[in-house]
Amino acid sequence: SGVRSHKIAVIPGDGIGIEVTASTLAVLRAVQDKIGGFELSFDELDYGSARYKAQGSYTPEGWLDYLRKSDAIFFGAVGDPDVPDHISLWELILPMRQKFQQYINIRPSSILPGIPSRVVGTKPGDLDWVIIRENTEGEYAGQGGRTHVGTEWEVATELAVFTRKGVERVMRFAFETAQSRPRKLLTVVSKSNAQRYGLLLWDEVAEQVSKEYPDVKWDKMLVDAMTVRMVAKPTSLDTIVTTNLHGDILSDLAAGLSGSIGIAHSASLDPTRTSPSLFEPVHGAAFDIMGKDLANPIAAIMSAAEMLRWLGEAEAADLVEKACRQSIAEGKTTGDLGGSLKTSQVTSEVVDILEQL
Ligand code: NAI
Ligand code: MG
Repeated sequence: SGVRSHKIAVIPGDGIGIEVTASTLAVLRAVQDKIGGFELSFDELDYGSARYKAQGSYTPEGWLDYLRKSDAIFFGAVGDPDVPDHISLWELILPMRQKFQQYINIRPSSILPGIPSRVVGTKPGDLDWVIIRENTEGEYAGQGGRTHVGTEWEVATELAVFTRKGVERVMRFAFETAQSRPRKLLTVVSKSNAQRYGLLLWDEVAEQVSKEYPDVKWDKMLVDAMTVRMVAKPTSLDTIVTTNLHGDILSDLAAGLSGSIGIAHSASLDPTRTSPSLFEPVHGAAFDIMGKDLANPIAAIMSAAEMLRWLGEAEAADLVEKACRQSIAEGKTTGDLGGSLKTSQVTSEVVDILEQL
């Protein structure tokens, strides 16, 4: 009695997704044993490319209704050299984001002590961003089609969809996030010079919502100029809000600038808490290193820390995050961060540090 319990749906997926998920569960078990007061149950699911190749589908029938019963979803990565990427994306990842209205994709990135920065003249602390990517509409809304396939007059369209409701809710979340951070600084990324319908709505709604947050300082950037500013003036940025496609690209740039995709974590949130939210590393299945115990597990473990925070387990979240940071600061890292440890060794280091904190 008195023990809070959380049911986690775990989808390791493919490639290094499977390896970093195993690391993550080990760390989660360790923090649960250390602190007590809460209990995580892991429901490990076989959704992924192996299932697709054997049975013809990534997921069993009724999977979304099944997942809905969990308190959160932890996701590794999906992707297989033998399966076109758009199939795994549209069969597994995008249905969850859309059906569960996970309209916020949040990707923090910072230069952590122990990681040499890729931006000349910056040191730990100089780059400390939260990128908020709209996660249900925009360029990934699923509208479009192909006709006259294979003929010389073949037509393909890929429609970007923006709704007032959809833009308003992401802007409100972005202003609130900016307001909760010390600098209270928000940059709204747009491309309203070229995309004069959808992104003009985007800009107008930003303007309207900003009135509710008079203490937040905000500015607007066109996405192309934004890439230059991220490299040339990283300290001028703090919280960033973008469309689905722009956020996909800018957050990878952010991961590259801050050190490695191997530490980039993310969450797809339904802030209304009507449906479960999903926590995952930014990286994919990494065919070049899979099965070799070389993947950096930190991105996945940090994603799980965010999951703990979302579930109300702030103390556990802080501990996991601290252990990850300390392992990096001590140089106990995988090859992508210049270290020589294996995935399994970094995992035991993080667990050891955690137990001593
Ligand atoms: P990727 O993220 O899998 O790999 C890109 C590069 O980063 C590779 O050189 C890889 O070795 C390295 N890398 C990635 N994660 C790492 C880690 N934890 N530690 C050390 N190095 C790491 O992206 P790529 O190669 O474009 O895609 C491979 C497959 O993954 C594709 O099928 C793609 O569709 C899928 N993918 C899936 C995602 C997801 O499930 N959310 C996201 C991105 C890609
Ligand atoms: Mg991406």
